[in-house]
Parts: sequence; structure tokens; C-alpha cells
Amino acid sequence: DKGNHRHFMMKEIHEQPAVVGQTLGTMIDPIQGHVTLPDMPFDLAKVDRVTIIACGTSYYAGQVAKYWLEQMARINVEVDVASEFRYREAVMPEGGLAVFISQSGETADTLAALRYAKSQGQHILSILNVPQSSMERESDVVLHTHAGPEVGVASTKAFTCQLSVLACLSIAIAKARGKIDDKEEARLCIALTEAPARMADVLNHEEAIKTLADDVAKARDVIYLARGLEYPIAMEGALKLKEISYIHAEGYAAGEMKHGPIALIDEDVPIIVIAPSGRLYEKTVSNMQEVIARKGQVIFITDEKGAASDGQDAVATIALPMLDEFVTPILYSIPVQLLAYYVAVAKGTDVDQPRNLAKSVTVE
Ligand code: M6R
Repeated sequence: DKGNHRHFMMKEIHEQPAVVGQTLGTMIDPIQGHVTLPDMPFDLAKVDRVTIIACGTSYYAGQVAKYWLEQMARINVEVDVASEFRYREAVMPEGGLAVFISQSGETADTLAALRYAKSQGQHILSILNVPQSSMERESDVVLHTHAGPEVGVASTKAFTCQLSVLACLSIAIAKARGKIDDKEEARLCIALTEAPARMADVLNHEEAIKTLADDVAKARDVIYLARGLEYPIAMEGALKLKEISYIHAEGYAAGEMKHGPIALIDEDVPIIVIAPSGRLYEKTVSNMQEVIARKGQVIFITDEKGAASDGQDAVATIALPMLDEFVTPILYSIPVQLLAYYVAVAKGTDVDQPRNLAKSVTVE
């Protein structure tokens, strides 16, 4: 049932504040300000290496987690797509933690990668949405996303719920390794629990994004640029656009622009720059200026502080509410989902069932 929405994708985008809240509620005690995960059959404090494997959107959630885990928990993290990982004979010293992320729990490549990691003596932790899947049966421990059934082929609410679980897992690993204290844990928990309300704020202002869709729908190519925690969101935004609007799109690390892709820029290429204020803000804005100088049509997605200081030469600026830097990937997922949605609607594609794609990829 789509409720009063035209497509499942839109309904699922709008469910995010609620399902992210529910997912966080299973792991965060907001009064005590700490994360509690289910009992693990291994000691998180003893893990000194994490390998994260997934496909598609779930893989981009893993990319965000790499930044969180390295920064907060000071642990080695490797992330790969399952189709490459399963055949590349990765070296995995025993006792490492292997994390598998999957909405369906049935993705053939991810399941095969899980079996490989198991054969290499890894602890298997899976982050899954659909209950009782094949991956659930073969994992040592499962952290569930509480997104509910996701019908749209383009993953939206499963993604932000995966990020929510990964944020909690990152906090728990950082804590177990003694890299953050109680006070810092409480601060991070409070920041996370603010996400649902901020997500609802963004959804209440979706007109701002809708008005950009007609122009973006005319483009042949679209480039998404970001740094740090938002870099995977740039790739996710590009994937969403490709998948449902059939427009060629690429997510690029903003600092890589001058190593090639800047040659693509002209007045016909929309560039979506994602830059919340924070550690890498100035660097990303300077990449944005380079693009504008080459006549790139920039849509600047930032926060209230960023919008007050930069973006005068952008075609449009979307100002999101302020939120702790740590939580920004969860919030900044929403405008890229909305943009892809409205562009697809403008193009008249089959939003919920795009051509050539299946919701669950059970063959390799
Ligand atoms: O069920 P999974 O999370 O394992 O699926 C992985 C990908 O097939 C999936 O995320 C795909 O990329 C989506 N259609 C993206 O919107």
C-alpha cells in the first residue's frame, strides 16, 4: 500500500524519520547515552581489523562506516564490493571481524563473500533488513535494520537504517577499544538521536529540491562531488539517479576532480556539491569554485552556516539544518534521494520498477 504517495519510493523516503528512530531505539539508551548491542559470541575489544562487504547502496553504507570506524575506533577497515571480494583471494588473518550489509540478506555475491570470510576464520556480523534470510542463517551475529519492507527497487530507507546501525556499531567498537570515553559516547548518542527530527525537517522542505528537477532531467551527465563522510553519499546519489532516471551520473571525491573529470565540465553539466560545514568544508568549497569557474551549473547542498557564507555563484543552494558532523551522512542522504526521485518523475520513468533491475540480486 502506497498510502497517499504516488510511488513506493516516495512513501519509503518519507518513512525514514520513523524507521531510523526505531532502528536507533533498538541500540541507543537515550537516558544513559550509551549503545547496547546484542551479545556477541566474540570480544569486540579483541578485534583489530574489520572487513566490510556489500553490493550497491549497501556498499556505500559500508564506505561511510570505514570513515567512522577509522576516525573513532582507530581500527583498520577495508571495504569492498562483494563481486570483487569473493574472487580476489583476500588475506584475512584469523579473528578479524567481517561485516556484511544487505537489505535482502539474499544477494548472491554478498552471501558467497560471507562464506569465504567464514572459511578464513573471521567473525561474521551481518546487518540485514528482511528477517530470516540466507545470510542471517550463516552469520555469527545479526544486527537488524528496522526499515520494514522496502518495495521500491531503489533502496532508500534501508540505507539510512544501515547507516544508523553502522554508526552504533562504530561507537561500540570505539568504546570497546578504549578510544572514546563515556562522555564522548553520550555526546555521539545524543547527536544520533537528533537525526530523525532533522530528517523530518528536510522532508518538510522538499519543494526546494523538486523545483530543481526539471533542469537536471535535461542533462546527459550529472556529477556529484563531496569529501569525507559525504563522499559515499555522492556515490549513492549518483547511483540513485542512474538507476531510476537513466541519466549517467558519477560520484567523485571532490579532490580528484582536477585529476581528470574536470575536463567534462561545461554549462550543460549539473554538478551537485555536498558540503556540510565541518572539517572538510573549506576544501570542498574551493573545489566547487573551480567548477563554477569552468561554467559548471552547481547545486550546492550544505547547511545553514554554509549557505550563509558560500554558494553565491551556485545555480541553487539547499540549506539543511545543522547537525553534528558525525551524523551528516544520514541527513544528506535525503536530498540526493529526493532529487533522483523528482528527476525520474520529470522524465516519466518507472520509478519503483526501473528497467533491467531486480530488487534482490540472487544470481551473480
Ligand atoms: O539486498 P542488498 O542490500 O544486498 O542489495 C544490494 C544492491 O543490489 C542494492 O543496494 C541495489 O544497489 C539497489 N537497487 C540500489 O538502490
